[in-house]
Amino acid sequence: MNENHAKLCPSPEWAEHIQHEVLPYLTEHIDLGEQLLEIGPGPGAATEWLRHRVKRLTALEVEPEAAAKLAGKYPDGNVEVVTGDAAHLAYPDDSFDSVGTFTMLHHVPTQALQNKILAEAFRVLRPGGVLIGSDSLASNDLHHFHADDTYNPIEPGSLLSRLQTLGFGKITITVDYIVKFIAHKPDGEDGCGEDDCGADSAPEDRPEPA
Ligand SMILES: C[S@@+](CC[C@H](N)C(=O)[O-])C[C@H]1O[C@@H](n2cnc3c(N)ncnc32)[C@H](O)[C@@H]1O
Repeated sequence: MNENHAKLCPSPEWAEHIQHEVLPYLTEHIDLGEQLLEIGPGPGAATEWLRHRVKRLTALEVEPEAAAKLAGKYPDGNVEVVTGDAAHLAYPDDSFDSVGTFTMLHHVPTQALQNKILAEAFRVLRPGGVLIGSDSLASNDLHHFHADDTYNPIEPGSLLSRLQTLGFGKITITVDYIVKFIAHKPDGEDGCGEDDCGADSAPEDRPEPA
């Protein structure tokens, strides 16, 4: 992370944005369950809000210094901070009820690695579990903000097919000044089975669109 991030990400203004504009929107209609994995927590703006809404939160951070600092905030309680790379998760299949990643994917240098992280999120989610995420949209300002840092914003128009290709279903993508997404791992219920949970799937009894 460059100096710009070092100032912004731990700031109250950033926490306000994540905790009042992003997370309430993403979680309004979903159940996070008991076990949440947060990928790329940084200084913990989302961690602090989410930890009150689940039984256990595992925060996986690739930068050891950032991980150690965040772990120092939560010596006891329900947050476990782990240093590691989200492209290679050390957790078994189906081990989390929910996975969250916020303002993080654009820091992953290639689309292939971003897909690997999303695929790992899918793998560790239990059937019926949910991935929630957000990211900044590409802009000149954002590019300048990332001077000497990784800058690889996701293209929201391709996100649906990327998530579907990985197996996610019941997908909601919102694009305003940022991109927000909610995507479920199929559980075979509600016409959303392992093979038919894509956005374009239509169970037999669903009325044809008028
Ligand atoms: C811009 S910060 C966002 C922090 C926090 N999610 C927020 O919204 O305030 C992105 C974070 O993702 C972490 N990160 C980047 N690549 C990662 C990876 N492959 N695995 C885990 N964390 C990663 C970075 O070290 C950084 O702390």
